[in-house]
Amino acid sequence: MKYYRIEGAHPLTGSIKVSGAKNFLSKCIVASLLTEEPCVISNVSRIGDVQVTLDMCASIGSSIEWMNDSTIKISTPRMTTHKVPIEFSGINRIPVLLMGPLLHRMGKAEVPLLGGCDIGPRPIDFHINALKTLGAEVELTDTKYKTVATHMVGAMISLPFPSVGTTETILLTACMAKGTTVIQNAAIEPEIIDLIIILQKMGAIIAVDVDRTIIIEGVDRLRGFTHKALTDRIEVASWACAAIATNGDIFVEGAEQTGMMTFLNTLRKIGGEYEVFEDGIRFYSTGEPLVPIFLETDVHPGFMTDWQQPFVILMTQAHGLSVIHETVYENRFGYTNELTKMGAVIQLYKQCLGGKPCRFLHRDFFHSCVINGKTHLKGIEMTIPDLRAGFSYIIAALIAEGTSVVKGVEYIERGYESIAEKAAGLGARFDVIDS
Ligand code: EPU
Repeated sequence: MKYYRIEGAHPLTGSIKVSGAKNFLSKCIVASLLTEEPCVISNVSRIGDVQVTLDMCASIGSSIEWMNDSTIKISTPRMTTHKVPIEFSGINRIPVLLMGPLLHRMGKAEVPLLGGCDIGPRPIDFHINALKTLGAEVELTDTKYKTVATHMVGAMISLPFPSVGTTETILLTACMAKGTTVIQNAAIEPEIIDLIIILQKMGAIIAVDVDRTIIIEGVDRLRGFTHKALTDRIEVASWACAAIATNGDIFVEGAEQTGMMTFLNTLRKIGGEYEVFEDGIRFYSTGEPLVPIFLETDVHPGFMTDWQQPFVILMTQAHGLSVIHETVYENRFGYTNELTKMGAVIQLYKQCLGGKPCRFLHRDFFHSCVINGKTHLKGIEMTIPDLRAGFSYIIAALIAEGTSVVKGVEYIERGYESIAEKAAGLGARFDVIDS
């Protein structure tokens, strides 16, 4: 069993390089399936999610060549099957995204059921409805989704919520459908804009209009692309919170201000500091006490739900009461139980403690929390329940007095590249034990 042993109470100092964005890379790899020509992607992270996506593509006929440590060439001149093997069930959110490319190239698709972090039920009804609207027949069996389409036709699709994955499913399907597709209430995260940029390089015609509207004019054929993945703004925020929570001072090479504006504003409000350079961002503690905050997560350009977990642990170090309202997922505070065992004072509420329209109003979900700081944390043994919660536990261990043992590290290695090396490079007492 592999686990981390972390000795806390040492400030993080030094420099690290941020990796390519997890939530973009897998989609970029799937986009390559839309063409017979080779596609070259650089700034590729060596993380579990990327490897699983590459394996899935290989299982339907793609050949993958690592040209150097972080660049891949992926070619799918011919798809060998329309069936993505069942062994990929329950691992990540990607199988549904393969349906569009498979439908265009094979006329049918069978993909396994989705997995990913356990942060709520995470249905894919919006994806399925969108695929049906574009002309596919979709059937759910015990183990997979089966879909078939003789021809895909553009349509008007209004999303009930600006879902990242559904917007991607529609983009990857409508770009080669006949006619025009309009997505209303689309997600417009920077990772989605980068996906649109790739599709444009491939020859797609996609316009991003005002008010979350995306207009896609279908084309007959797409070509190969060369693209450098944007950097991971969730990883940047995670290390930033770790630096400030430990009274440290770090430089994150490759961190981009675009896409992080809301995070930087929030950091400034609590008394954390940053300095933006051409090649990255420095994050540091001023030594002054941190002040509490009222915060609501939201879709872009709001405060990302994936920044919430590192921020919650950071707020245990602020003086006073912080209030956080999670509006994207109904069940994304479960991880705080372990933090309270370390000494954090965090109370969960079913009520909406905030003013944003929230789908979880009057429903039985603990989706708001109040944090009372500053608390002194003590090292314990804990088991990571999901990816982002995992980084929150790492930060907690880095702050805490004494030694913490962090288990369940496979979750974190799905999404953070070289976490132990990066932490050690910043002076953390961070050992990886493989027993
Ligand atoms: N939703 C539905 N029906 C659907 C699709 C979504 O009800 O058909 C709901 C979800 O249950 C959720 C909300 O809509 O409450 C948002 O889901 P969305 O589709 O936007 O999320 P996703 O595409 O499944 C991606 C990231 C998540 C990130 C969210 C929100 C990937 C692989 N995952 O998930 O990342 O939290 O967008 O930004 O891109 C992570 O990296 O740890 C992670 C969970």
